[in-house]
Amino acid sequence: MPKSITSWNRKKTGKYMENLEIRPMTEGDVEAVSKLEEAAFSMPWSEEAFRGMLADDNAVYLVADAGGRIVGVCGLHQSFEDGEITNVSVLEELRGCGIGRRLMEKILFLAGKRGITKILLEVRVSNVAAISLYENHGFLIIGRRKDFYEKPWEDAYVMQCLLKDDGEEKVPSRMC
Ligand SMILES: CC(C)(COP(=O)(O)OP(=O)(O)OC[C@H]1O[C@@H](n2cnc3c(N)ncnc32)[C@H](O)[C@@H]1OP(=O)(O)O)[C@@H](O)C(=O)NCCC(=O)NCCS
Repeated sequence: MPKSITSWNRKKTGKYMENLEIRPMTEGDVEAVSKLEEAAFSMPWSEEAFRGMLADDNAVYLVADAGGRIVGVCGLHQSFEDGEITNVSVLEELRGCGIGRRLMEKILFLAGKRGITKILLEVRVSNVAAISLYENHGFLIIGRRKDFYEKPWEDAYVMQCLLKDDGEEKVPSRMC
């Protein structure tokens, strides 16, 4: 990412970053989270889908709350020792400021605490920012799914992160 854009963003968005809290999503966040997704994706999840996740014991959903304004969301679904990252998005005007990184760090930490050892996700092959975010957190590309996405049609990379025990907690194995 161009350094100049990053530092400009950091200055412009300092007030949001100072008050940033990464916390579990609640019912009261669903409308704002759904708007975030609508702005980020051509086929966004509905409010109903997010409400379903709140009622699901196997789902972990986090929001980035900047003094009451929801500026990011990250979700994971668990199936025994396996997890799948289902959603990650950050408000466009605050991208490049470290919010995605904070969400990923916390969700991987919580995944480890829940006993998850392997996390998978899909990402558009053109989504350089997301791929880079995932690689920085220990994900590796392990496959490619043809025409996985619509609007526009595009292949997906399948990425995997293995969590292993470093003595006290589970962490991405490439980071040990
Ligand atoms: C992907 C996304 C969540 C990243 O969130 P973000 O808050 O902008 O990311 P951060 O500022 O925390 O950056 C974290 C890392 O992401 C990568 N990254 C972020 N923006 C990038 C860009 N424009 N180009 C390349 N890499 C980028 C970098 O590796 C960065 O690492 P660094 O912290 O060492 O610089 C955000 O771009 C987004 O919401 N995109 C639209 C929704 C989306 O595509 N979600 C992924 C679906 S699979």
